[in-house]
Amino acid sequence: MRFILVGPPGAGKGTQAVHLAAHFGIPHISTGDIFRLNLKNGTPLGLQAKGFMDKGELVPDSVTNEMVADRLTHPDVKAGFLLDGYPRTTAQAEFLKNALATMGSPLDAVLEMTIDNAEIVKRLSGRRTCRGCGKIYPTSQPSCDACGGELYQRDDDKEEVIQRRLEVYAEQTAPIVGFYRNEGLLRSISALGSVDEVASHAISALSK
Ligand code: AP5
Repeated sequence: MRFILVGPPGAGKGTQAVHLAAHFGIPHISTGDIFRLNLKNGTPLGLQAKGFMDKGELVPDSVTNEMVADRLTHPDVKAGFLLDGYPRTTAQAEFLKNALATMGSPLDAVLEMTIDNAEIVKRLSGRRTCRGCGKIYPTSQPSCDACGGELYQRDDDKEEVIQRRLEVYAEQTAPIVGFYRNEGLLRSISALGSVDEVASHAISALSK
């Protein structure tokens, strides 16, 4: 199974990706997580990405595409993959389409998660992330139950940056929904409901 999760910041893509990757037995590839890992390790890629991420802007397509193309050469993607947070522009969608055509591994589906902006702001301002392993928690959690790591608020989860991320989503990412509708790959679900309910709707939509 090869598919993409599309949805605004805070829709719950990362949360669902963990369930869906386990359900389908495929790797979860999150461009945001890869950038954050590079930043934590102080690599040039991480430092380059930080300037864009902290402002809620997209990292340039050339940088992101090259990073994803490299990730798609890893042997684990032979089983399939779930892309979370990529593509985010029509140019990235075109790049991915060509890269997968060259590999002879086209996408099976694109799952759109829909949610309104008020719920997004509530979710993102209440999100905490583990510094050690990246696992996501609500504010009530004291520390990471997976690795014991410290929980922190992402710099881009401050309210003014959330607003810019929403604008960037509407301007630059929302058009890829039409792109994939035209390709006949789009399936949409509501991101509202409990995590288990959304996961069940996602699995049904992807299994059609
Ligand atoms: P990225 O890390 O991809 O962030 P995002 O797309 O903005 O998505 P988020 O991680 O904020 O939200 P999510 O949908 O995964 O929600 P989550 O599951 O965490 O990107 C960050 C930045 O990196 C970008 O702004 C950009 O600068 C750069 N970047 C990344 N990819 C790029 C690309 N392709 N091109 C260029 N630049 C790129 O859930 C959110 C909260 O809601 C959590 O607290 C969670 O616990 C809660 N929650 C989840 N589900 C539910 C539910 N059902 N009910 C109640 N609460 C829920």
